[in-house]
Amino acid sequence: MSDKAASFPAAWLEAGAPPLEIDFGCHRGAFLVGMAALHPSCNFLGIERQALRVAKCCSKATRLGLANAWAVQGEGPDPLRQLLPDGSVSVFHVSFPDPWPKRRHAARRLVNGKFLAEVRRVLRPDGVLRLMTDDEPYFREMRELTVEGWMEIPWDDGREGVPTAFEITFRQMGKSPFRRALTPQGPVPAPHPSAGDVRPARELGNFPESENP
Ligand SMILES: C[S@@+](CC[C@H](N)C(=O)[O-])C[C@H]1O[C@@H](n2cnc3c(N)ncnc32)[C@H](O)[C@@H]1O
Repeated sequence: MSDKAASFPAAWLEAGAPPLEIDFGCHRGAFLVGMAALHPSCNFLGIERQALRVAKCCSKATRLGLANAWAVQGEGPDPLRQLLPDGSVSVFHVSFPDPWPKRRHAARRLVNGKFLAEVRRVLRPDGVLRLMTDDEPYFREMRELTVEGWMEIPWDDGREGVPTAFEITFRQMGKSPFRRALTPQGPVPAPHPSAGDVRPARELGNFPESENP
């Protein structure tokens, strides 16, 4: 593809290409380039709504000589629809999505039924969705939204990793993020009754303490 700032190498989607990982909401690319450096046999694509952050990710990847890292600008499920074929992604990372805690802002949350349906579509059948947040009500909501069509798997997959920028900040405050790794299970579920836009997150039930590592 010619305009790399708006797109990414077409070869990444070709048959036999290395596994593709998405870092959605990749910020300035600390996790993206860190993972790309650790795992040269995988390709890492960041998707981020803020253009300046996308540019920073791409210049970091270029400066570090990482041909397996890139970022594109996009918001919500649209870039998934536009850029990624069915079953093309091995691992989909969503770390510290903005929680939008006020009820009137709930529709702005990234992780909702529509977004998760697109994630399901782009993930390989053995792919993994890795969700991490510092916001307990949002985590409960994510858990509720992934009851059907997903199966929880251990967070620790034995791979070497790097913390995200927000994870570092959060851990420096002495806190542990809420985390959930999931793999697709069964047929693609019908759209969640919430239509994915507004969930009464703060009214959902409690979850076991053990889920906050
Ligand atoms: C709180 S930051 C977390 C950044 C990074 N994932 C981390 O853990 O350090 C959320 C990032 O997601 C981006 N973002 C928020 N909503 C988004 C959306 N709907 N689509 C794409 N990016 C989004 C923001 O611009 C920001 O860079």
